[in-house]
Amino acid sequence: MIYKAPRGTHDIFGVNAAKMSLLEQVARVIFRKRGFEEIRTPIFEDAALFMRSIGQVTDIVEKEMYVFEDKKGRKLALRPEATASLARAFIENRLGISMPAGKFFYIGEMFRYERPQAGRYRQFHQIGGEFFGVSSPAADAEIILLAQDLLYSVEVNEISAHINSLGCKNCRPALREALVKYLDSGHGLCGDCLRRLKRNPLRVLDCKIDSHKFTEIPQMSDYLCSECKCSFDLLQSLLESAGCNYIVDNRLVRGLDYYTKTVFEIRQDTAGSREALAAGGRYDNLVEDIGGQSTPAVGFALGSERVLAAAQKAKFFISFQESEKIYIALADSELFSEAFSFAVKIVKNGLRGNKNISVFGPLEDKNLTNQLKFADKIKACTAVIFAKTEFEKGKVLVKNMKDKTQTEISINEL
Ligand code: HAM
Repeated sequence: MIYKAPRGTHDIFGVNAAKMSLLEQVARVIFRKRGFEEIRTPIFEDAALFMRSIGQVTDIVEKEMYVFEDKKGRKLALRPEATASLARAFIENRLGISMPAGKFFYIGEMFRYERPQAGRYRQFHQIGGEFFGVSSPAADAEIILLAQDLLYSVEVNEISAHINSLGCKNCRPALREALVKYLDSGHGLCGDCLRRLKRNPLRVLDCKIDSHKFTEIPQMSDYLCSECKCSFDLLQSLLESAGCNYIVDNRLVRGLDYYTKTVFEIRQDTAGSREALAAGGRYDNLVEDIGGQSTPAVGFALGSERVLAAAQKAKFFISFQESEKIYIALADSELFSEAFSFAVKIVKNGLRGNKNISVFGPLEDKNLTNQLKFADKIKACTAVIFAKTEFEKGKVLVKNMKDKTQTEISINEL
């Protein structure tokens, strides 16, 4: 029996694992600079949390959640996203009391039972930030700019933020009514859309089968109340003054029901597909809806796999790939402990001033020829060989693994 990773999942190793870590490191620095604290929530939660937060009539809840029962019959779900988990953690840990304007970031795996294709997996990684307690559109602008900064920092440059406002509790009913009227007028809707029409008409706009039919949907902007309109105008002027590349897109609705007012997606200008690299929005009712005190909030998440694919050719990763691989080899096995402590020293201090190194060896029981073959296999640039005659003079042999030239160098100089 040969086992394979489950469909829609993949192992991340070698250069890809290193790139993923680098992206996460960069994200941590950027988040901390803006006062976001890291939070780690469980990978599984009460399934009802997601049903309530994301919405019963959404693709994620209807089709994509991994739901299971534990041994006590509790209905749990692998998290399909983390905003609901963060809102739950915000309430449960009373984070709003110690930090009225709480900023949190998270990095981790999400799970959705989707049809696997390029950039769409069943287990994937998100890096996200949530900003609780501020209703000003300045927070929305900060989140959009932060998401863009993250992409710029890995040299994914040709991007635009597509933004829209979905209104609030006050103006949504009028928009909803206009939408139902429009969608119900002879579009020949598919079964899913017909079922969703009355319960959640916004989701109909997202339908993969029918969405192309809706050419003249009621403009959200015509239904916004004065407060929502002011917020959306202010958001745009803040983005403009920050030099942000944004596009107002009245068709943008997003696949999660918790959003109010601002929604956005950041897409690559050059990519033919509509797939977003990052997305988010405001969710002013979620904390209260799941049992907390009324708390405005806004956030985003980027898909790490999608961002890494977009950054594939980015200059940012080149310096990482150029880290110098050093192999510590033994010509005489009695020098094992000396070679070992030398390896420990250069891991800490670098070699000849270069700290961007990866150190391999020494390995105990291979002869020198096999050790050097191994060094070639792992594409080492340099082998530092510990041999008795040279070591007695305080020296080692330093072999250039590309041209195979070799020089004696004093250990203290390395
Ligand atoms: P989302 O749009 O569902 O939003 O996902 C955010 C990002 O995760 C997407 O833009 C995409 O890059 C990535 N993503 C989503 N599904 C997949 C998949 N199956 N495979 C690979 N990547 C994927 C949320 O999850 C919200 N929680 C964002 C948010 C935070 N809103 C407010 N705060």
